[in-house]
Amino acid sequence: MILVTGGAGYIGSHTCIELHNAGHDFVVFDNFSNSSSESLNRVAKIIGKEIKLVEGDIRDSAALQQVFDNYDIESVIHFAGLKAVGESVEMPLEYYDNNIVGTLHLCEVMKKNNCKKIVFSSSATVYGDPHTTPIKEDFPLSATNPYGKSKLFIEEILRDLYISDNEWKIVLLRYFNPVGAHKSGLIGEDPNGIPNNLMPFIAQTAVGKREHLSVFGNDYDTHDGTGVRDYIHVIDLSMGHVKAIEKINSVEKVLTVNLGTGKGYSVLDMVQAFEKASGKEIPYKITPRRSGDIAKCFADPSYAKAVLNWEATRDVNEMCEDSWRWQVNNPNGYKND
Ligand code: NAD
Ligand code: WQD
Repeated sequence: MILVTGGAGYIGSHTCIELHNAGHDFVVFDNFSNSSSESLNRVAKIIGKEIKLVEGDIRDSAALQQVFDNYDIESVIHFAGLKAVGESVEMPLEYYDNNIVGTLHLCEVMKKNNCKKIVFSSSATVYGDPHTTPIKEDFPLSATNPYGKSKLFIEEILRDLYISDNEWKIVLLRYFNPVGAHKSGLIGEDPNGIPNNLMPFIAQTAVGKREHLSVFGNDYDTHDGTGVRDYIHVIDLSMGHVKAIEKINSVEKVLTVNLGTGKGYSVLDMVQAFEKASGKEIPYKITPRRSGDIAKCFADPSYAKAVLNWEATRDVNEMCEDSWRWQVNNPNGYKND
């Protein structure tokens, strides 16, 4: 049985489906601080099976222990965490507590129960402002905000854990920019309030919830001046987790892998692709750069192919079509249910 922390969230809910499709049994542990149980109802509908769920906070060791008491947990996919960069600057203590202290509790409970296999949600944010692209796993690491630092610190903690006990099997997955949704249109990204990320903002503009998109800067050193990112379909990303968990027994040392497509698209490329997918115009205005943003970020995905036999197959058109289907069917996300 696989424990999926944060399994009710955006990436976790999609990963639950891919785990099921690949024949794996799982239990979700989530405190719903940034999600709702409705996402899991929808997952249950898609896979035609009830979801095993324990509601709780990863900082609560007793609640975590309950999961280990009630289920035979062999490995953990650890998504649970807070993820908004701007909010992390406003609330560093909450971010360090939730993400780092939470992970410490999780690892302690795992150790106590002799469960030593973990796949961790890291992020391309740990590369800071890369000196060149595409980004390889051995590039220098840095972070400028508490969210990114929490990812860096957790990576370090997990590396130390392995050094202390080589029985641990640890995979650090560094995601680039996850977008898209499940084909059913039943689950997708459901941000609270005004979206910080580009894709949900574009989708909400297309559906008429936002007047226009602000394009943060058009004077970057990129093909059209707007920021370039490696957008990856959440289903491809989810499948990367399945590959990682299937591979984990043969992992030596700590395996660190980029999950991206290797292709970079600008903000305006994404606007255009979304207009095509939705048939809607996306009004936009060029505004000053957002502080902390970088010009270009995209992965070298070749190591993922070599070690996990995984590569992304879904293109930007599919990403936009699937995001649009989710958005148009659920203009208020899960909130109307
Ligand atoms: P999300 O917010 O949709 O999902 C996270 C889930 O964790 C939520 O369901 C939330 O309720 C739960 N959670 C948070 N704190 C918890 C706690 N203390 N105890 C129990 N549950 C808790 O985010 P997501 O986009 O699905 O991201 C999943 C993971 O991937 C996060 O760790 C995030 O930092 C990482 N990541 C996300 C992105 C991205 O752009 N979405 C990129 C790179 C890495
Ligand atoms: C993408 C591009 C913006 C919104 C963030 C985190 C990162 C990771 C993924 C978790 C940039 C531009 C955006 C808007 C815009 N999360 N943009 N107008 O900044 O690459 O990464 O999410 O780990 O850690 O930092 O993603 O979607 O916010 O921005 O012009 O309203 O879109 O400037 O070029 P980002 P994003």
